Amino acid sequence: MKALITGISGRVGANLAHQMKVRGYEICGLVMPNDPHAAKAERLGVEIVEADLADAERVRAAADGVDVIVHLGAQIPQGTDPSERMLDVNTRATMSLLEGALTSSVPLKRFLLASTYQTYNPFITRDVTFDENTAQQPIDIYALTKLLSEEICLSYMREYGTPVTILRYCSIKAANEVLGMLHPAWLNYFIEMTLSKNRVPWFGAEHIDETKAIMSELLKTPDAVCAVRDADGKPWQLVVTDVRDVAAGTILALESEAAVGEAFNMTGCPPISYPSAARLLADATGRPYRDVQMPFWRGAGASTEKARALLGYDPQWSFDRMVETALAYERGQPIDQIPY
Ligand SMILES: NC(=O)c1ccc[n+]([C@@H]2O[C@H](COP(=O)([O-])OP(=O)(O)OC[C@H]3O[C@@H](n4cnc5c(N)ncnc54)[C@H](O)[C@@H]3O)[C@@H](O)[C@H]2O)c1
Repeated sequence: MKALITGISGRVGANLAHQMKVRGYEICGLVMPNDPHAAKAERLGVEIVEADLADAERVRAAADGVDVIVHLGAQIPQGTDPSERMLDVNTRATMSLLEGALTSSVPLKRFLLASTYQTYNPFITRDVTFDENTAQQPIDIYALTKLLSEEICLSYMREYGTPVTILRYCSIKAANEVLGMLHPAWLNYFIEMTLSKNRVPWFGAEHIDETKAIMSELLKTPDAVCAVRDADGKPWQLVVTDVRDVAAGTILALESEAAVGEAFNMTGCPPISYPSAARLLADATGRPYRDVQMPFWRGAGASTEKARALLGYDPQWSFDRMVETALAYERGQPIDQIPY
C-alpha cells in the first residue's frame, strides 16, 4: 500500500510516517522547497517529492500512483503572509490533490484531511465541549481555510465518490515542546493576535486594558509557568494532544471503512486545568509557578466519543505522562516519538 503524506517533515507527519512504515506502508513524503525540517524527513528513509503546496501542477502529479493520501501539509501561523497565500497553501492544495487522485493511474482508497477543532471556534469564554455536529464558525483565516478544505473533500466524495475522512486535531505537542508550555509570551501571543488588525476581541472589548496590564506584569518573568483562572477563580482548561495519540488515531481512521465520509474530533486525553498543568511543569523544571487571574475564561474542549466508538481511538498520553516523556527526552534517553 503506497501512501502520499504531505507535511511529512512536520510534528505529526514524521511520527505518522514512521509508524506507517513500521506497519508496512510504502511512503512518499511531500516536502516544500527550502523546508527547514527537510533533514528530519530525509532521516525517515522514505521517497521524497519536493513541491510547494501552492504549486497545483506538482501537487497533482504527486497524487498520481498512490493508494492513500494523508494531507497534513499546511501553513498554520499566518504571520505576515497575505490571506490569499494561506488559501492557496491550505485549501487550493486540497483540491489539487483530489484532482490529481481523479486522474491517477491507481484508484484512491482513502483521502485523509487534517483539519482542526478551531473550525468550531474555540475562542469563546463559555465552558462547552464540541462534538462533530457543533456548528463550525471559524474566526480566523487558518480555520477558514481548513473548513473550506473539509467542504471540498465532501464535495469530491459526493461528486466522484472519492473516499474521504476528516480529522479535527487540536493543540498537538511533541516531547521537546512540553516543558516550555504555559509561559507568558505564549499567553500573550494569543492576546496580541486577537487584538491585531483591529480584530474584535473574542474575550470582550471591555477586558482589553485589564488583560494587557496583567500580561505586561507577567512578561517581566519570562520563564514563569502560568496557572490561569478567571475572575471567579474557575481554572482555565488546557486542551492538549500528544503527537503519539494523533499518529495512532490517524492510522485507525485511515484503516477503518467506517471512517469513509466521516469527520472525527481527534483530541487527546481529557483536558487538565491550567493550575494542575502548571504545577506539573513547575515541579518538573523549576520554572516559577505564577497564579494568574484573567477577566475571562478559556478552555472549550472537543469530545472524542465518536472516534472512540467508531475507530477504537483511545488516547493514552495524559499531560503528566507527556511531561515524563519530555523529561526523558531532555535527559537524552530514547523516547518513542520523533521530536518536532
Ligand atoms: N499542531 C496542532 O496543534 C494542530 C492542531 C489542529 C490541526 N492541525 C493540523 O494538522 C496538520 C499537521 O500539523 P503539524 O502539527 O504536524 O504541523 P507542522 O507545522 O509541524 O507541519 C506542517 C507541515 O506542512 C508543511 N508545509 C507548510 N507549508 C507548506 C507549503 N507551502 N508547501 C509544502 N509543505 C508545506 C511544513 O513543511 C510541515 O511539514 C496540519 O494540517 C495542521 O493544520 C495541527
